[in-house]
Amino acid sequence: MKQTKTYYIETYGCQMNVYDSELVAGIMERESYLRAESVEQADIIFLNTCSVREHAEDKVHARLGVLKAQKEKKPGTIIGVLGCMAQNLRDDLLIRRPYVDVVLGPDSYRRIPDLLNERLAPQEHIVDTKLSRMEVYEGLFPARREGVGAWVSIIRGCDKFCTFCIVPFTRGRERSRTVESIVTEVQQIVAEGFKEITLLGQNVNSYLSEGVRFPELLEIVTEIEGLERVRYTSPHPQDFNDKLIAVHATHPKVCNHVHFPLQAGSDQILERMNRTYTQSHFVALAQKMRSAVPGLSITTDIIVGFPGETEADFQETLDVMNAVKFDSAFTFKYSPRAGTKAAEFKDSVPEDVKQDRLERLIEIQRQHTLEQNEAHIGEVHAVLVEKDSKKSSDQHMGRTRNNKIVVFDKGSETTGDIINVRITGAGGITLFGELA
Ligand code: SAH
Ligand code: SF4
Ligand code: F3S
Repeated sequence: MKQTKTYYIETYGCQMNVYDSELVAGIMERESYLRAESVEQADIIFLNTCSVREHAEDKVHARLGVLKAQKEKKPGTIIGVLGCMAQNLRDDLLIRRPYVDVVLGPDSYRRIPDLLNERLAPQEHIVDTKLSRMEVYEGLFPARREGVGAWVSIIRGCDKFCTFCIVPFTRGRERSRTVESIVTEVQQIVAEGFKEITLLGQNVNSYLSEGVRFPELLEIVTEIEGLERVRYTSPHPQDFNDKLIAVHATHPKVCNHVHFPLQAGSDQILERMNRTYTQSHFVALAQKMRSAVPGLSITTDIIVGFPGETEADFQETLDVMNAVKFDSAFTFKYSPRAGTKAAEFKDSVPEDVKQDRLERLIEIQRQHTLEQNEAHIGEVHAVLVEKDSKKSSDQHMGRTRNNKIVVFDKGSETTGDIINVRITGAGGITLFGELA
């Protein structure tokens, strides 16, 4: 029977979820479900959710409230919660949100077609949050949106157990895909017309499959013909070694940008976070990378207000920022996650202190970003054209190899071209340029 049901997926959280949503879209389309243009038009609505901070969960709870009203108007709508919140809050969701039909954790997506067939003949809630030591979705191809860049998951799960972080609990143990399946997927991506890929994992440099480690995998991937740019996110500083720096320095397709999550500057806090590196190790690595890789940009993630963080500890985070001068930073107030080790620490930092530290940190980062961007003025950069700029259809926006956004007046180039642009100005986030 021809399928006429439509589905819609809303994605929250990190790029792993973006990739997983494409995977789920691929599964749905293989079963001939049609992609709906909007949530309102869909028969099946999936929210692919994130639990990393309380705020991420709050957003989904609010959204579910809206979907409940929609379901009341259109009974028969199926609402599915996927991803990390499904994993983390399964029972809570089932009790608090009885109108949610499907709850699937990140390792259960292969079961979607069967589950939906059961559900379409109305039954009980459908729940599967069993984490797997094996599942890497081998043989399933994500349905990607058009664009110039594609995500490719290479390792799932995380074994680091940073004490603040829920991810090892929602995503389970680390497991790497085979080199062969990654290469096949990238070849298909290139055949579809994508120029750039980003290799994904919570911890990409833990990658290990049949003796191949992450730096070697990068080298293998760069050999794929037609692929222009390779990015990856996120590496863990502990596993960032000289070999990986050498790959950056020698392979022009490997972009000169590293997302290098600091989290905190003081050794005492790093220790309590179980980050397994010290401030001096982190700074030395960052400096080594900068001197080995021309034009390298380094971005980071920083948490303020981790339990026990004193003003002196916080100053050390600022010290690292001043030493490394990150190109940009994602900054967060610590958010306790039930079930993690840090949630049991008693010496929590008051909300107003967290807020004050966050604001000071953001201000310093703003200056550093501007400083780093201004240093590019006068340079000519190869820019991969992504789309029209937000402000004007007479302008294009694209990205440099070191991941800066550049806006410039259009010439004869089209989306997907790599062209030379001379940088003429720098804003807070965006660079401005002209065709060179
Ligand atoms: N695997 C990646 C990041 C995963 S989560 C890494 O190791 O870098 C993305 C970011 O969210 C983290 O880098 C951290 O800065 C932040 N984060 C994670 N748990 C958090 C928490 N409980 N409170 C505040 N920020 C958190
Ligand atoms: Fe979370 Fe740490 Fe794993 Fe990153 S490395 S996902 S912060 S536990
Ligand atoms: Fe969030 Fe899960 Fe990613 S908790 S950050 S969506 S791995």
